[in-house]
Order: sequence, then C-alpha cells, then structure tokens
Amino acid sequence: LISHSKPFLREKELQSLNEVVDSAYLSDSHKTNEFRTAIQNYLGLNNLYFTSTGTHALSEILEILDLKDGDEVILPSYVCESILIEVLKRNAIPVFCEIEDWVSNQNDIQEKISLKTKAIIIVHLFGIECSFNELNSLEIPIIEDCCQAFGLKIGNKYSGSIGDFAFFSFHTTKCLTTGEGGAFCVNNEKYSYKKKYFLESNHNIFKMSNLNSSIGVSQLLDYDDFLIKRKNIAKKYLDILKSHNLKNEISNTIWFRFPLLVSNSKFFIDFFEERGVLVRKGVDKLLHKEFAFNVELNHTEYIFNHTVSLPIYPALSDLEINLISNTLNEYLDRYGL
Ligand SMILES: Cc1ncc(COP(=O)(O)O)c(C=O)c1O
Repeated sequence: LISHSKPFLREKELQSLNEVVDSAYLSDSHKTNEFRTAIQNYLGLNNLYFTSTGTHALSEILEILDLKDGDEVILPSYVCESILIEVLKRNAIPVFCEIEDWVSNQNDIQEKISLKTKAIIIVHLFGIECSFNELNSLEIPIIEDCCQAFGLKIGNKYSGSIGDFAFFSFHTTKCLTTGEGGAFCVNNEKYSYKKKYFLESNHNIFKMSNLNSSIGVSQLLDYDDFLIKRKNIAKKYLDILKSHNLKNEISNTIWFRFPLLVSNSKFFIDFFEERGVLVRKGVDKLLHKEFAFNVELNHTEYIFNHTVSLPIYPALSDLEINLISNTLNEYLDRYGL
C-alpha cells in the first residue's frame, strides 16, 4: 500500500547522524546552533526557539501572551485538535471562524473580533497561504501556524516571518522533519521584554539535541529541491484534472497536501485503497463538533465532508506516482469528481 505520507530520508541524513554520534556531542550544542541559524537564514527571521513539538511551541507563545480566563482566541475549526486544547487549557474561549476553501476567511475573522480578542491563530493548512494582510494593522497579536507550511512564500517574505509570532513542527509527517520537534519565533519587538523575562525565568524551554538537529540540517540543505519535487507531483495530478476539464485552484501553496473536493469522499478513498493507494480525509474531525461548541460553520462542514487528500511527498517513487496518477485518471474517467 502506498502510504499517505512519509519522510524523505536519504543517505545524507544517516551520514549527518553518524557524524554527531562519532563526535560524542549528542546534546544541544554545535549542530543545534547550526540548525537554528540555518532556519533563521532560510526564513529570514530572528529569535527562533526550539521546543519539543509544534503544540509545545504554541503553548510557549500563549504563555508569553499571558492568556487568561475569558480571553478570546480566533481559530478555524478545520485543524488538528492540539491547537484547540492549548487554548482551552488556559480557560480562554475559542471563537471559530469560517474557512474559504481550506484556510480561514479573513472577512469572517474580522467579523468575529471583539474587545476580548487576545490572539488570532492563522493556520497555513496543507501548505496553503492563509491571507491575513487586512488584520495586520489591528492591535491584536497574530500567531502564524506554519506547521504544515515551512518554506511557503508570501510576497517576498516567508510565512512565519510576518505575524507577531509563528510556530513550526518537525514531526515525521511534516515537510522538514527532525523526528519530533518544534520551534517558535517572536517577530514583534513589542513582545521582546516579555519574551526575555519569560525565557530567563528558568522556564522549561526544550533543548533540541544534536541528533535531531543533524537530520534537520541535512533536510534543510536540500529543502528547495524537496519543494520542487512536491510541485512536480502536483503538476502531474493537475494535468490529469485538466485533461478531464477539471481544476483545483489553489493560489499559493507548497503542496504539503494535495486536497481535492469530491462528491463522495468515502467512495473515493475506498476506490484508491482497492488499488493500493492510501488517500485520507483532509482533517479527521471538526473541532467545534468534537468539543460540542454550538456554532454554525456551514462552509467548514461542507469542506470537511468533501475533501480528500492524495499522497504527495518527495519520497514517492516514479512507479508510485504513476500508480496514483493512473488511479486518479481511472476514477475521473468513470465518475468525475
Ligand atoms: C497545522 C498544525 N498545527 C499544529 C500541529 C502540532 O504539531 P506537533 O504534532 O508537532 O505538536 C500540527 C501537527 O500535527 C499541524 O498540522
């Protein structure tokens, strides 16, 4: 079975790991510093702090923001649940906004802002840009969730360098992995004092080991190629859609996922599985439903019910890409979308 997602691990990662093992400096030292500097240079940001996971990184940001009982945080319902849990852990109130295609709708965010809004979480889901240019001038902290969008360009900047805060995940399924790991950055000077106080107050900031960092460093060296590989696979799928007079219009993405709207997602998933390809739903559950929040999000529910996600990652072989492409062709020939 072709898996839905898989890290791209090569001889280079192994060599890099071996070098660290040979050096006997396994803990947080030279490789971790090298990894931090490489990320900062690549994304054009400062102040990057490693954490144990992406969720932990968000937790640190919410701690800096000093989120309290009754503060409101705007976020989409169409995202992984660990984000919501971090908000709820602080007794803050989640305010769910609608999505447009797969990412938050800026207009709906604006409508949901109140005097109690203490943060807006902007998720570049599936690697797709979630625009927030109209929210920048508001005095509300913007937190960019870049866990699925490392290396996404927005204008001439990288996502993660634009919002007041940003966070990243290096989990195995992500475009750039270190096994487990995460990071956050503070872009707005306004929060520097708090950040300094917070970081120096003996807080339990995670230390990334040289072992994890060595994998990250070798991944980042070839990261542009990783993204090109994703784009080339996407082009194959898009060409197949086009040959059936169909399209999948996503304006700006790094193709972390290839989401597609279909009329019957279960039927589509079963069809692919019978032919040896694991297709998944885009997101496994809707947060407002799962946590019983009484809010109407019609478009979000529509997207949730109709999205499927095709395998798209650099570790796919040409043979595997052909099998997925042929299956897509066969499906569209028979049923359309
Ligand atoms: C969009 C998004 N945000 C946050 C996270 C949390 O990252 P982690 O699994 O490293 O805690 C993930 C990954 O699962 C994610 O996909």
